[in-house]
Amino acid sequence: MKTIIKNTIILLALLGAFFQVNAAQNFIYQDAVLKDDNGKTAKVFVGVPVTIKEEIGKNVKVSIKGFMFKDEVYSTKSKDLLVAKVEKGFNVNQKDGNEVELIGTLAKELTASDLLDVWGEHEEFYFEMCTQCHAGPEVNHHTMMEWEAIFGTMRGFAKLDEEEASYLLRYLKANASDGFVKTKH
Ligand code: HEC
Repeated sequence: MKTIIKNTIILLALLGAFFQVNAAQNFIYQDAVLKDDNGKTAKVFVGVPVTIKEEIGKNVKVSIKGFMFKDEVYSTKSKDLLVAKVEKGFNVNQKDGNEVELIGTLAKELTASDLLDVWGEHEEFYFEMCTQCHAGPEVNHHTMMEWEAIFGTMRGFAKLDEEEASYLLRYLKANASDGFVKTKH
């Protein structure tokens, strides 16, 4: 009986954590174009966290945060992961220093709250390519910087071409301990 209660509590705690993530956050489902009020565009990339401000028919108005360098917005000041590429004249809300907020609309179907929807295919490719010699390492046990370094060797081992390498490295960094999907381990 005791173990049943214990397991139930653990399960509830896990579900709680899971739904918290889901309720709070949506993500860019695939590379997409964001439009500001003047019709200027920004390219936003898969996995970027978005806050939905408003639903307008089939579209959503979203807020995306990051650090801007020239026309590029990154998830961190150290430019670890690309969030968006902004067209000249795109309306950018400047905060402290390089910190910015982009607000614009895109099709609602280009956002998703379920991380499996966003990263499922990447994950499959990861297991296909990276478990030939060893078990697939837990992606969130490394930081973005660590992945950058490890991947330098492993992409050669897995014989990835340019496109496959950047596809996979984005998955690894986005899901790293300090990536888009912040999980504590
Ligand atoms: C051809 C075999 C092979 C393939 C394919 C391979 N690895 Fe490895 N991996 C190794 C070997 C050997 C080591 C241990 C030696 C080393 O660190 O260089 C290792 C170590 C690692 C480590 C631990 C490194 C550390 O410093 O803690 C990680 C993480 C890793 N691999 C990730 C990957 C990823 C991601 C891929 C897919 C892109 C991949 N591996 C594909 C052979 C492989």
